[in-house]
Amino acid sequence: MSEKTRKIIELENVNRRYNMGDYTVDALTNINLTVHEQEFIMVMGPSGSGKSTLLNIMAGLEKPSAGTIQIDQRDLSTLSDRVLCDIRRYKLGFIFQFFNLHPILTTLENVELPMLISGVKRKDRVPRAMAMLEMVGLEKRQHHLPHELSGGEKQRVGIARSLVNDPSVILADEPTGDLDSTTGTEIMSLLMQMNEELHKTIVCVTHDEAMLKPNIRLIKMEDGKIISDT
Ligand SMILES: Nc1ncnc2c1ncn2[C@@H]1O[C@H](COP(=O)(O)OP(=O)(O)OP(=O)(O)O)[C@@H](O)[C@H]1O
Ligand SMILES: [Mg+2]
Repeated sequence: MSEKTRKIIELENVNRRYNMGDYTVDALTNINLTVHEQEFIMVMGPSGSGKSTLLNIMAGLEKPSAGTIQIDQRDLSTLSDRVLCDIRRYKLGFIFQFFNLHPILTTLENVELPMLISGVKRKDRVPRAMAMLEMVGLEKRQHHLPHELSGGEKQRVGIARSLVNDPSVILADEPTGDLDSTTGTEIMSLLMQMNEELHKTIVCVTHDEAMLKPNIRLIKMEDGKIISDT
C-alpha cells in the first residue's frame, strides 16, 4: 500500500453508551471508520449526533463501550496509559471551538506549552514556537495575552499550538464555531494549507455548511450513526 493511503486511525464497530441511572444514551452506535494518512475529513451533523464523542474516542480521551480503535495499527485498548499519553502528545494535535488558551500566558507561551509538557528545553522551544507563529502569521503578536487577540487570532494560536509537537493528525472540534463566517473561512483555509503543505491528516467537526470545501471527504452523522461518507 502506498504511503498516501496508509491507515492512520481505524474504528471498528465502535459504540459509546452513557449509563445515566434509569436510562442510557447511545452517543455512538456501530461506527466503522478508517482515516488514511493525509486525508482531510469533515464531520457534520446536528447537535447531539455524536461528533465530539467520535473525536474524543479517536483521540483515546474516551473509551468505547464496545469495539476497537487503532492508531497506526496499534489497538488502543492494549496500550498502557503512558504509551497512550505519548500517542496523544506526539501523534495527535487538538484544536477546540473555544480556543482553550491559557488566559495568563502570552501567545508565545501558549504555543510553547505542549513542548513544556513534553520536556523540550527552552532554547529549543522558543524558536519552534516562533516558527509555528510565523506559519499562522502571528509572529508580531507573540507578547499578547489571549484577551488582547481577536477571535480569529486566538484560533490561529490554537492551530500553532496544535502543530508544535509535529503530530501527523489534527483533530479539530468546531474550530470555526465561535467565529464570524469570514474569519471562519480563513481558519478553514489555514487548515487546508496544513493538510496540503505539511501533509497533516485532518479530521474537522463543523455544523456550518458554509465551511464545507469541495473535494474533501464528508462524513455525516445523525443520532450516533454515520449516515453518509462521501
Ligand atoms: N459525559 C456524558 N454523559 C452523558 N451523556 C453524554 C455525555 N457526553 C455526551 N453525551 C450525550 O451523547 C450525545 C452525543 O454528544 P456529543 O457531544 O458527541 O454531540 P455533538 O454532535 O458533538 O453535539 P454538538 O454539535 O452540540 O457539539 C448527546 O446526546 C449527549 O447528550
Ligand atoms: Mg460537539
